[in-house]
Amino acid sequence: MTDPKPDEVRTDAVPESDRPGPGGEDSVMALHRAAMDVMNDPVTLSAEGTPDEDEAAPGGQDTVQRMQDILMREQAEPRDGFEPVPFWVAVVCGGLLLWGGYYLGTNSADFRADVDDTSEFRLGDDLRLPAGGPAAPDPELKTVAEYVKVGAEVYRRVCVACHKPDGNGDPSQNYPPLNGSEWVAGAEASPARQARIVLYGLHQPIAVKGRQFNGQMPAQGGVMKDYEIAAAITFARNSWDNKADPNDANPAVTTAAVKAAREKAGKRDQMTAAELQKLPTDYSDLPPAANAPKADGAPPAKAETGPKG
Ligand code: HEC
Repeated sequence: MTDPKPDEVRTDAVPESDRPGPGGEDSVMALHRAAMDVMNDPVTLSAEGTPDEDEAAPGGQDTVQRMQDILMREQAEPRDGFEPVPFWVAVVCGGLLLWGGYYLGTNSADFRADVDDTSEFRLGDDLRLPAGGPAAPDPELKTVAEYVKVGAEVYRRVCVACHKPDGNGDPSQNYPPLNGSEWVAGAEASPARQARIVLYGLHQPIAVKGRQFNGQMPAQGGVMKDYEIAAAITFARNSWDNKADPNDANPAVTTAAVKAAREKAGKRDQMTAAELQKLPTDYSDLPPAANAPKADGAPPAKAETGPKG
C-alpha cells in the first residue's frame, strides 16, 4: 500500500458521528459507508483504490476480510485503457484483414470495368468466334496451294529442326533430306507411307538419295492434327526442287488420307523402312469412292504419287 494520507479516511471522508464503533452490525455499516465515501472521493482514493487495511478496519478480522472482499470486487471493475483485447482476437482480426487485402489485391483486376461487368454482352462487342481459338474448327483444305500455305507454317514449327529450311536435312546427324527424296516425291512415295512416317515416326536404316540413314524420327500423331500432317507433307512434296502435285486441284496427300491411315494402323510403334515397303505404293487407306472422278471432270486423285520404278 502506498496511500500517503491514511488519516483522511477518518478525519475528512467520514463524519465524526459515523465513526464505526468496535465490532457489530453498526460498525460494519459504518465501515461500508466509509469505504464508499473513500471510493467516491477521488482525492482520497489510493493507487489501488483501497484505503490502507489497518486504518479502515477496526471491526476485527472478519469485518476486515469482508471489507477486503467488497473493495477487491470494486477494484476489479474495468478501467479505461487497462483491458486490452485478448491476444487471439487481435490475431484472428489481423489475419482476416490480411487475407481480405490479399484477396482483393489479387482478384480485383484493378477494378476495371471490362472485368467487373458481368453482363454477357455489351454494345459494340465483336461476337464472332476468335480465329484460331479452341472453338475454331479445323480448316478444310482443298487445293494444293491451300495445303502448301498451311504446310509451310507447320513445317517451320515441327519439321524444320531436323530436315532444315532448305529441306536437305543434316546427314551428319542422320537427318535425311526431304528435298529430292524418293520417299517424298519419288518411287517410294505414297499417301499411305508418308502419312505413317509422320503419324508414327521412323527408325532403323533407310536409304534416301543413295545414302544410308539410321536415325530416330519421333511420332507426331499425338501432337499434330490430320490436316496439319497432310499439309506438312504436301508442302514438302511441292517445295525446293520437289514438284509432286502438278494438278493444284488434286493434292495426293489429303486430310482424309491421313485420317484413314490413322484409323487403319491404330496405335503402334515407330515405322521402319522395311515395313513401309510392305505397303505397295498403289495401296490406299482410302475407300475407292474417295478416288472417284470429281464432279468438275478433273482426273481421279491417285493413291500413289510420283513416278514408279
Ligand atoms: C526430331 C527430328 C525430326 C523431326 C522433327 C522430323 N523428322 Fe522426319 N525424319 C527424321 C529422321 C532421323 C528420319 C530418318 C529415320 C531413320 O533413319 O529411320 C526422318 C525421315 C523422314 C522421312 C523419310 C525419309 C526422307 O528423308 O524422305 C520423311 C518423309 C520425313 N522424315 C518427313 C518429316 C516431316 C514431314 C516432318 C514434320 C512433320 C518430320 N519429318 C519431322 C527426323 C525428324
